[in-house]
Formats: sequence, C-alpha cells, structure tokens
Amino acid sequence: MDTTKVALVGMGTVGTGVARLLCEEGDRLAHHAGRRIELAKVVVSDTSKGRDIRLPKGVLTDDLDEVVADPEITTVAPLIGGLEPERTIVLSLLGHGKNIVTANKALLAEYGPELFDRARELGRSIAFEAAVAGGVPIIANISQCLSANQIMSLQGILNGTSNFILSQMESVGAAYADAVAEAQRLGYAEADPAMDVDGSDAAQKLGILAHLAFGARVHWRDIPRVGIDKLELADIQFADELGYRIRLLAVARLVDNELELHVSPTLVRANTPLADVSGAFNAVSVEGDAVGPLLFHGLGAGQMPTASAVVADLIDTVVGRTAITFRTLELWSRREAMVDARDFDQVPGRFYMRFAVQDHPGVMSEITGALGRNGVSIASIIQHESGRLGRDEVPLVLMTHQTTEGAAARAVREIDRLASVSAPSVRMRVHDAAVAGK
Ligand code: NDP
Ligand code: HSE
Repeated sequence: MDTTKVALVGMGTVGTGVARLLCEEGDRLAHHAGRRIELAKVVVSDTSKGRDIRLPKGVLTDDLDEVVADPEITTVAPLIGGLEPERTIVLSLLGHGKNIVTANKALLAEYGPELFDRARELGRSIAFEAAVAGGVPIIANISQCLSANQIMSLQGILNGTSNFILSQMESVGAAYADAVAEAQRLGYAEADPAMDVDGSDAAQKLGILAHLAFGARVHWRDIPRVGIDKLELADIQFADELGYRIRLLAVARLVDNELELHVSPTLVRANTPLADVSGAFNAVSVEGDAVGPLLFHGLGAGQMPTASAVVADLIDTVVGRTAITFRTLELWSRREAMVDARDFDQVPGRFYMRFAVQDHPGVMSEITGALGRNGVSIASIIQHESGRLGRDEVPLVLMTHQTTEGAAARAVREIDRLASVSAPSVRMRVHDAAVAGK
C-alpha cells in the first residue's frame, strides 16, 4: 500500500485530536483512503511543553522548514488559529507546493480570496470543512451534495461556545462568567473568546456559507451582528415564561433576489429542532428549492468532532477529491456578487423587548406611545408586581407583532431616552417557525 506524508502546524485542542486519529487509527484511515497516511511532522512553538499525546520520535519540531523542505509532505494542516502568523505560513506552504487543510474560519473570512487565488495560481487546494460547524459536514453538503438546488435559506447555530453558555445559563442557572470559563476549559472557545460571544465567529462562518450557498460577497464585518455578551439571566427566564429558548441564530435568507443576513440572539419557540440544540452542538437548517428542508445537527466545537472534519479533509486531499472540488466549484473564484445584501432596516421580524422602567403612573403609556409612533404593534406584555431589578424599578417585557428591524430599533432608541427608563433596553428577534425558510 502507498504511503502519503502529511504534517500539522500547531498541536493544541484540534491538532492533538488530529494527531491522535492519524497515529492511533492508521489502519482504519488507510482502509478509507486506500493508502497509508503518515504524520511526518508536527510543528509547535515550544517542543518542551507537555503534550497529551506521545508522537513517534523525530515528528515534533519547532522548525517549519523541516516541513517546507520535505517534498514528500504533500498536505499540511495549519491549526494555530487567528490571522498571523497563520496567513503567512499558509502562503509559504502553498508556495512550496503543499495543499492546505484548515479549520480557521477567521483566516478564510478575512483572507479567503487572497489564499484561494494563490492556491489556484499554484495548482494547489485548500480544504476547510472544519471551519464551519466543527464536526458537522455542512461545507461538503452545501457545495457538493446540494448542487442541484437553489438554496433559499440557511439558519443556524454556528458557535458552540455561545450555545454552551446559553445552555448552562438556562439549565443550571450558571452565571455568564462561569459558563465562559467552562467553555474555555473544555476547549470550545477561541484563544480570545470575545470573538465567540460577540457574534463575530458566527458572522465569519455565516459569511463563508453565504458565499458558497448564494454567491454573496459580503465581508463578515458588514454582516449585522449582536452577540450573547449583554444577555442577562432575566431574559432567559422571561423567554422561558413566553415559551421560547434563546439561541444565537445566524440567518441567510433569499427574499426577492436579495439576501437577508444577520447574527443575533433570538427567541426560538421551545420544542422545535433549533431550540433543542444544546451544549456545544451546532445545527444548520437549510432549505433548497428541490430538496426542501434539511437539518444538520452535531458537535460544532471540541477536540475530536473537529479532528473528524480535519482528518476527512486530509484524506480527501491526499486521494485527490479536494482538488476536483477546488477546481470546479465556485469557491471565492469570482469577485462579483451573485446576490446583493438586503438593507437591514427593511428586514422584517417580530421582537422581544425588555425595558427597565420606574414603577410610576403614566410610564406604560409613554412606552406604548413610542412604539405606536414608530408603527410597532404590541402582541403581549408582561409586568410582574414585584420589581426584579431593584426598588422602584420593574422589568417590562413585551412581544411585538411583525414589524421591521428599522422600526423596532427606532422605537427602542426613543424609549431609551425617556426619563422613566433607567437602563439600556434589550431587544431580540423572535423566530416562530419550526424549520428554515419561514
Ligand atoms: P489552540 O489554541 O488550542 O492551539 C493552537 C496551537 O498552535 C498550540 O498548540 C500552539 O503551540 C500552536 N502555535 C501557536 N503559534 C504557533 C507557531 N507560530 N508555530 C507553530 N505552532 C504554533 O487552538 P485550537 O486547537 O482550539 O484551534 C485551532 C484552529 O481550529 C483555530 O483556527 C480554531 O478557530 C479552529 N477550530 C477550533 C475548534 C475547537 O473546538 N477548538 C473547532 C473548530 C475550529 P504550543 O502548543 O506550542 O503553544
Ligand atoms: N470557538 C468556536 C465555537 C470553535 O465555539 O464554535 C468552532 O469553530
């Protein structure tokens, strides 16, 4: 049986999982690949650091040149994270004839066009299944298995860390900071978890999916996004009272040839598939015009689920499958957008709003007046008798009927200027449908 040599750069959470599969499951992988895949080198920044895995002698190194200089190493997975030095390393590896496997969505969202152009120029490939939704094979499904379809919508929980934090808060009433620390300890979070909790990581992944599924050319920074970092336990409790769970939802929806795109904490009706996604699980609900609704569900973060996707990409690359996909599919190959982004102000939706108001006569009419002036209609209101926010102050929670992002935002801005409102208001989208597209 032939042997193909591969290498890793970085051996943290994901790299360790990949090394484990390559070293401990060699026979199984050889059976699936039709050749043996040898882990020839693992480049780390500090070779003296204790590792969770014992590698064969001579594999661990801190010298990237040992990979670059070995012509038998055909494919390399840089698994460092962040933008630099990973971008420079990828460009250098491509320049030395290596194919790339990456799990780094931040890198692709920022430098995808540059890296893909360079790979094409040099006749190399870049595989990136692990970059979106970890172990869930969403990239292959969107770019290959669903190629007969016009994707109509795609809605997903794309950040495992945020979903884990929300689940911890809702199931055991965990404090936000404790849940973040636990997500870090379990290896779900990025080196800087701010990207996880402020919606950036999900926006980067949504940008990649929108690129593949719709031919959108929106930079991730231009995707309207709100994270879970300002969320309070009170909102999770009110959502529960109203029959909803809060999930960080990433949405791309084709409406009248324009693409609605956003990431935001959203009230999702309880006992529906997206509401039931818990812990570090991700889910992507896709609707294609031929296939109808589909739901992909699985672990979106963590060592072995992510390693599963990286190793599958390594196999696909060494057997030549990635090269075909990379050559034939429209992956960052064309510059002009096939669809324009919809003006976010015009995006329709229902909203949950929570106001911290003084418990005085006339306050309710000030709030409803501001909503009415902006054309926002109220569907239901909750105000409990005892103040949960402190003396003389009560949370006023309401659900609106269908309106637009712009109208809801203008109403909340006006309400936040009222003297009777003592803290910035909370506003979240509401998702009532059980599946994508509705
Ligand atoms: P970690 O922070 O756990 O590991 C990063 C590794 O990179 C460390 O082993 C570190 O080396 C190494 N490193 C840092 N700088 C260099 C350098 N200059 N040269 C060589 N090695 C270097 O990250 P993760 O494993 O969690 O993430 C890796 C990638 O996978 C990221 O892009 C992330 O977004 C992505 N990803 C992660 C998931 C997860 O669940 N963790 C899920 C999906 C994708 P040393 O050990 O010596 O310090
Ligand atoms: N930090 C990311 C998450 C890892 O929590 O989803 C997977 O991309």
